[in-house]
Amino acid sequence: MKLFDVYPINPINIVKGVGSLVYDDKGQEYLDLYGGHAVISIGHTHPHYVKRLEDQLHKIGFYSNSIEIPLQAQLAEKLGKVSGKEDYQLFLCNSGAEANENAMKLASFYNGKKKVICFTGAFHGRTSLAVAVTDNPKIVPPVNESDNVVRLPWKDEAALEQAFAEHEISSVIIEGIQGVGGIQVAPESFLQKIRTLCDEHNAVFIADSIQCGYGRSGKFYSHDYAGVDADIYTMAKGIGNGFPIGAISISPKIQPAYGMLGTTFGGNHLACAAALAVLEVMEEDKLIQNAAERGSYLIEELKKFDQINEVRGRGLMIGIDLPAELAHAKKDLLFKHHIFTGEAKPNVIRLLPALNLTKAHADQFLEAFSKVLRPL
Ligand SMILES: Cc1ncc(COP(=O)(O)O)c(C=O)c1O
Repeated sequence: MKLFDVYPINPINIVKGVGSLVYDDKGQEYLDLYGGHAVISIGHTHPHYVKRLEDQLHKIGFYSNSIEIPLQAQLAEKLGKVSGKEDYQLFLCNSGAEANENAMKLASFYNGKKKVICFTGAFHGRTSLAVAVTDNPKIVPPVNESDNVVRLPWKDEAALEQAFAEHEISSVIIEGIQGVGGIQVAPESFLQKIRTLCDEHNAVFIADSIQCGYGRSGKFYSHDYAGVDADIYTMAKGIGNGFPIGAISISPKIQPAYGMLGTTFGGNHLACAAALAVLEVMEEDKLIQNAAERGSYLIEELKKFDQINEVRGRGLMIGIDLPAELAHAKKDLLFKHHIFTGEAKPNVIRLLPALNLTKAHADQFLEAFSKVLRPL
């Protein structure tokens, strides 16, 4: 059997990882500033994470949501505390798309309405309604096209007001910082406007925090910069540092009912152990603070390169917008300097490293980047 060929991959076989470094099968070391799509939050094979998962695996790896799983309550308590949303409720699932899918369903259960507002440049996943609210027609098959989607121009407050006046809106879904869309930071006033309109129209504010959340921006949720609470936060990626976990944090105003949401795998013992290990390391090693400080340093240093069009982002979610003649930069970083970065179209380098990135590794990148921009 062949693999279904949907990924344009680099010819590199990574066999080992430690912190922000990974190694291929030939022993070549790479600096990982991408974390496999923003997933590695506390570094590869963090000793506490490995031990907690190993210990759990020796006890029990999986049982379904038909029994008590006290690890879930421990996770909810810790996540509530670290995220500053102690009165919210936690529902666990397995991926980002699933988290968004559940959030939009829940909103519709809550207010009985159908329309979802989303924005140009948005990426919310590849399943049913999640892909319908994603702004990329190439990945939306006809079966997932939906009349319930109201797509508005990014940052356009007037369009937002008009949409609320014209439609019965169930929810608004927005990334605090668009990731796939090229590291575009949502203006604070825009998020505040969404909060106000959702309150006025009994709509649900869904903060997609799958890429920009979990401490990466220098606050737990990047939407926190606007000083408003969303009704539902969706999470995945960094929550499990590589273990597949999705989650939604739900405002107390939304009440649960049996059967409303459900999953076989979500919230299993091993997944909870992974998520708890991540939060323990985040707290112990003050990783949100490190993301803020290290990110500010990188952004300030990057702004000194005058060949760059723009540097965008917050904390360790950074976009370097390059002119077309520097389109080679990402490949050069990987193949000449052995540094993994991400990209966004048309010509943006995305930095999404582990939140415990060291200054030495940040400097290693800056040094390599300066060489990529000025080839000798
Ligand atoms: C903002 C955002 N939402 C949702 C998703 C979908 O997550 P998953 O691939 O885990 O389904 C992603 C993945 O890149 C994302 O960046």
